[in-house]
Amino acid sequence: PQADDARGLTVTITAGPTREALDPVRYLSNHSSGKMGYALAAAAANRGARVRLISGPVALATPAGVERIDVTSADEMLAAARQAAGDSAIFIGCAAVADYRAEQIAAHKLKKSANDDGMTLKLVRNPDIIALIAEARINASVSESAAASPRPFMVGFAAETRDLESYARDKLERKNLDMIVANDVSQAGLGFGADDNAALVLWRNAAVEPGRAELPAQSKARLAEAVIDQALRGYRAMRSG
Ligand code: PMT
Repeated sequence: PQADDARGLTVTITAGPTREALDPVRYLSNHSSGKMGYALAAAAANRGARVRLISGPVALATPAGVERIDVTSADEMLAAARQAAGDSAIFIGCAAVADYRAEQIAAHKLKKSANDDGMTLKLVRNPDIIALIAEARINASVSESAAASPRPFMVGFAAETRDLESYARDKLERKNLDMIVANDVSQAGLGFGADDNAALVLWRNAAVEPGRAELPAQSKARLAEAVIDQALRGYRAMRSG
């Protein structure tokens, strides 16, 4: 990678899981460790970018030179992402956002009842953070003057266990993204929690030839450098197109 070729650009990255409280002592979450998102933040910072890392609860040190914003729930992550997106050249959604949260967060610890052998939780949908950021920026770039900053180059991740390419392409279109990094999270030793990962990168803009790139299994640190490379390529194609 070329040192310093991202100087002057602000890159916002979401990482880790979100945690959705059920009561004061319990929550819903997932196995994201934050390793992939933190590796992206380190790779972008190494290229000279100004990096904001919006992080769910993880046990990782903040990469050097990175501004970290800690959040817990999807709602908090959305608020932080909205604040950060305005002046970002590139927005990368690597967080594993919980798709649902409890309809009500119990004020006191939920109790077992003596004559019951089960319980039902009512869940409601969480906001789709990356789709809302992509949509808001599209609207802003239509209504603002030509001098206003264009929408960030929007990069999503897709965690799939089957039909990787077709599900990822669907998310790329449906969420109005510019690029998607699809990873097969059913493969042993890759994906959630692992030190290594592999990915298929897809772009929406046909100008980025040939429209897809396969990144083989490697450390998340090296994969992150390749993803940042591809994001910069796509960003430049968008700016010149
Ligand atoms: O953290 P690690 O242990 O290193 O693991 C890395 C990873 C497997 C979590 C990462 O590589 C990854 O795939 N992250 C995305 C996980 C995910 O939730 O994917 P998804 O297919 O459900 O979501 C698609 C995209 O929409 C993602 O960019 C996601 O951040 C975003 N999203 C999803 C739901 C939601 N409510 N809001 C969102 O912004």
